[in-house]
Amino acid sequence: MMTPTWSPRRPHALDDAQIDELADVLIDCVEGGASVSFMHPLRRDRAVAFWRRVAQGVASGERAVLVAADARGLCGTVQLVLDQPENQPHRADLSKLLVHRRARRQGLGEALMRAAEATARECGKTLLVLDTASGEAERLYDRLGWTRVGVIPGYALLPQGGLCGTTVYYRTLGG
Ligand SMILES: CC(C)(COP(=O)(O)OP(=O)(O)OC[C@H]1O[C@@H](n2cnc3c(N)ncnc32)[C@H](O)[C@@H]1OP(=O)(O)O)[C@@H](O)C(=O)NCCC(=O)NCCS
Repeated sequence: MMTPTWSPRRPHALDDAQIDELADVLIDCVEGGASVSFMHPLRRDRAVAFWRRVAQGVASGERAVLVAADARGLCGTVQLVLDQPENQPHRADLSKLLVHRRARRQGLGEALMRAAEATARECGKTLLVLDTASGEAERLYDRLGWTRVGVIPGYALLPQGGLCGTTVYYRTLGG
């Protein structure tokens, strides 16, 4: 099978169709056991409500969202929280890196991370921070040169129950 060439883009507004497809991605990740703020089963109306709030943040400029699609629609996304306290204007939080299971292990996670870093630079950010449920995603952040700060044990519940730790990372964006 040929590896797709991903082209993540940054929509400046999310319409209903995009919100629906992003809800599918979120539900799929939770079904797959990812600890991304929600418990299993994640009802569609709750997933849609989450993306509607994100869409408001995108519209107001508080957030940037990056999305990528395959032939079936949106299958990957990541966010930057750009709006930070006035003493941290150079910083953004990176959050909700989500790749639908149908599109995994084809380089999309990496493409989204690189696109998010490029977007952060364009927005004048020089420091990114993220936390991730300790596990698979850590390999990606390590590979991309993020610095691991440490692990907070028992930070959150897994979607099916049971505590998991979270690993905090940062990345400085050079000129
Ligand atoms: C973590 C996550 C985003 C990774 O997405 P992904 O698209 O699979 O990421 P990539 O394809 O870039 O890399 C994943 C692996 O596939 C491998 N890979 C990439 N392209 C490949 C290819 N063409 N053929 C085979 N393997 C490939 C990478 O080397 C990497 O291997 P590793 O895990 O052994 O290091 C995805 O698993 C996910 O959405 N998980 C659930 C949500 C989550 O945990 N998000 C993070 C919360 S902050």
